[in-house]
Amino acid sequence: MRQAGRYMEDYRKLRAQFSFLDLCKRPDLATEITVTPVERLGVDAAILFADILLVLEPMGVGLEYAKSDGPKIHRPVRTGVDVDRLVDFNPQEELSYVFDAVRKICAALNGKVPLIGFAGAPFTLASYLIEGGGSRDYRHTKQLIYSDRGAWHALMERLARLLASYLNGQIAAGAQVVQLFDSWVGCMAPEDYRDYVFPYTRLTIASITPGIPVIHFSTGTAGLLKLLREAGGNVIGIDWRVNLDQAWQKIGYDVGIQGNLDPVALYAPSPEIRRRVENILRRAAGRPGHIFNLGHGVLPETPVEHVIEMVRAVHELSMR
Ligand code: CP3
Repeated sequence: MRQAGRYMEDYRKLRAQFSFLDLCKRPDLATEITVTPVERLGVDAAILFADILLVLEPMGVGLEYAKSDGPKIHRPVRTGVDVDRLVDFNPQEELSYVFDAVRKICAALNGKVPLIGFAGAPFTLASYLIEGGGSRDYRHTKQLIYSDRGAWHALMERLARLLASYLNGQIAAGAQVVQLFDSWVGCMAPEDYRDYVFPYTRLTIASITPGIPVIHFSTGTAGLLKLLREAGGNVIGIDWRVNLDQAWQKIGYDVGIQGNLDPVALYAPSPEIRRRVENILRRAAGRPGHIFNLGHGVLPETPVEHVIEMVRAVHELSMR
């Protein structure tokens, strides 16, 4: 999950000097931002400092990280003509700054912990492209599906191929695990997921370099778990809206599970955090293949000490 960010003072200091995109595009800074939380928090893996929306910038849609209300796409995709107008680009060239960062981070980590590379899943990226930012009801996204299925399928196929190439570039540069974030796919009905999303998530995952573990993450998808599992991934990442034991039973014990502490729990006093960690570990029941994580990214203003205490609690309570 997102583990760097504005809740950390070191990040805020750098962020005061550089724009978010500049931080992503400077491999030296991206390395520092990736490695600091590993040391500070004591987590067992690093996640690349980048963003799922970076792949949209070379498409020519006007990506901006606005100060207050999150990322914005200035020229959203609303029609088939808009889809055709998207710039085709080679991720190995246009996103080479990400691969440079991966190489630098791996050198800095020096094998201490693995590096997780990542990308957004086709649906979540399509939803940003179409809505122009975050959304409550995904009205424009669903409208494109309803009104121009051909354009939707064309867009999703382009995204799937782009994302596979992008992830494979991260793997070639040294990422040992990759995570695919389908953060907003929980808005889809199961049948619509199957028809309009599943083929492209599956294509993306099936195109990833063999032998590299894939974490397939989403939120609000208790009703989609079987389909998500079928779409692929060695590990399914879940949020807190579903009990971990029930989710694991649904997806099957032959795949791993990641999750699922509510990030808001990190505002609670430490005994409460520990109690909630313990509850999740009890549900995992010591089975191999559980990656303890939050159910979504760390929220701004989360006390860093509470994150450290959570990590400590996980280590203590899961010791064998
Ligand atoms: O440790 C890390 O921080 C890893 C890097 C990382 C970021 N974004 C950095 C970031 C990762 C893994 C992401 C993934 C991401 N980005 C997702 C998928 C995971 C999830 O949380 O669902 C999504 C949906 C995004 C899109 C995105 N980027 C949003 C919604 C926002 C704004 C939210 C916010 O907290 O401001 C961003 C910006 C962003 N990405 C920040 C960071 C550190 C904050 C930017 C800033 O400094 O202003």
